[in-house]
Amino acid sequence: MAFIVKQKVHGKDYYYLRKSVREGKKVISKCLGYLGKDKKQAEKKARQIIEKMKKEKSKDTKPASHLGKLKKKVSVMEKQNISIEELATFCRRKGFVYPSGEIYGGFAGFWDFGHLGVELKNNIKRAWWDFHVKQRDDIAGIDGSIITHPKTWEASGHVESFSDIFVVCKKCKKQSKTSKGELGKTKCEFCGGDYDEKTAKEFKLMFEVMVGGDSKSYLRPETAQLIFTNFKSVYENARLKLPCGIAQIGKAFRNEIAPRDFLFRSREFEQMEIEYFVNPKKEVCPYEIPDVEILVYDDEAQEKNQEPVKMKIKESLKKKIIKKDWHAYWLATEFLWFKSLGANPENFRIRQHKKYELSHYSTDTWDLEYKFPFGWKELEGIADRGDYDLSQHEKFSKKDLKVFDSATEKKVLPHVVCEPSLGVERAFLVFMFDSYFFDKKRENIVLKIHPSLAPVKAAIFPIVKTNEKIVKLSKEIYSSLKKDFNVVFDMGGSVGRRYSRADETGIPFCITVDELSLDKKDVTIRFRDSTEQVRIKISEINKTLKNGIEGENIKKFGKLVDTRKK
Ligand code: GAP
Repeated sequence: MAFIVKQKVHGKDYYYLRKSVREGKKVISKCLGYLGKDKKQAEKKARQIIEKMKKEKSKDTKPASHLGKLKKKVSVMEKQNISIEELATFCRRKGFVYPSGEIYGGFAGFWDFGHLGVELKNNIKRAWWDFHVKQRDDIAGIDGSIITHPKTWEASGHVESFSDIFVVCKKCKKQSKTSKGELGKTKCEFCGGDYDEKTAKEFKLMFEVMVGGDSKSYLRPETAQLIFTNFKSVYENARLKLPCGIAQIGKAFRNEIAPRDFLFRSREFEQMEIEYFVNPKKEVCPYEIPDVEILVYDDEAQEKNQEPVKMKIKESLKKKIIKKDWHAYWLATEFLWFKSLGANPENFRIRQHKKYELSHYSTDTWDLEYKFPFGWKELEGIADRGDYDLSQHEKFSKKDLKVFDSATEKKVLPHVVCEPSLGVERAFLVFMFDSYFFDKKRENIVLKIHPSLAPVKAAIFPIVKTNEKIVKLSKEIYSSLKKDFNVVFDMGGSVGRRYSRADETGIPFCITVDELSLDKKDVTIRFRDSTEQVRIKISEINKTLKNGIEGENIKKFGKLVDTRKK
């Protein structure tokens, strides 16, 4: 029996369709779908879902003998294209992300990460750091301060130019933002109407702070400037050689006029940035450009209202669509990073900034864009900043920031040929959207997040909570695994219920301890995506988890268990 439930989140009503299902001795309520915020619409959507379910049920009840024994077991995963509001609700419900200051009604543009969100965020940052810093010889890391000398922001041009234009749509009257260069060129993002240029006004984006009572500075709006101000010291002390990069992960703050779309545009966020320096006289990229194909949308195609074209990034360099080999290299490398962590490549494209969109420091910028439910949007910006920043800091500090280039045996003021700059929260959204599936057989959400990013790596279940020996052994396994992995111990409800809970939060492995475990010293380990289970020795769990987290198929590690025999 399905029923509509209203939930109040952050002062707003959200409607869901739920259903009571019997699981063992208990009756539990399962979510069948999100119905939106409007009661009438919710009732309409509920009727549609129930109708669809009836049709599917009649299909499912047809004799399945022709499918053979194995086919019956296979899960039916369906990609769920959920809206940003639905994702926010899911993240709120499961403990990934909460509106900051929720008990006071929330605070626009600020978010708090819960017990699962902080793990996912840390795993994203760790994966980024390993790939871009730890595994490379040419990039060193730093961690600069959030508040720094105010001259930094004068030199960088932020005090003068870092602003947006506050606009109101003439047609729908909604408030929004645009940039100076875009005023008069863009239409309202909600209804496509014209912005009222008479009421447009400049809005400075940096948060001011008072330091020591009388000295004004700013919360940094990008991490990049700390890399520039420390450039010479890091270059010399880390014994870097051009071409080389300096990387940083950290908080950035922008007083956004219109924070929206959950984590997409907030006022406090984190960036993962690299400034990649070259000698302008020796600009050739020595690295192989990764062999990846993607939708390419250059300035000219946008001007002519043409569609983006799918091609190899290498080819777009050959065709001079992308002008510099370094740009091609970094675009391909960044795309590859997302792909290697399970993001869906079909949801990505690269787009060149139109001339009027370019930031004050850039001569050419390409964005890695993602198909969000609210349209194609910037995920990561990759700008050519030239020598803008280092020469500005030389001018304002009156310090020589040139370094010795051993290849030319001359001092040089390097150019930033590329600045890959990615928001942690936008990457967070990508991995959440691309892993959100619904399994019709299991009747629950399965968050198919890459095991290396999954907030919790394994759940340990005693098959029954009434057998003391089984519970004791399960707890021993849990304590031993906890030293190396983020794991949970769960003995609440039926095993089926525990599997659903684990699937919904993306736990890739569930380890069940049963009667046989006591004698044979082994357990079953179940993989979230396929529900396949293998029997492995307790002494092998640690190694199996390690391999599984790295992406290996766990079938390699033990005997496949036929769960239907149970
Ligand atoms: N240092 C260059 C720079 O800051 P940007 O395009 O303004 O360039 C880089 O920002 C990245 O930071 C964006 O691609 C996005 O991922 C993230 N970002 C920027 N503003 C953001 C905001 N208000 N909320 C969340 N992420 C943001």
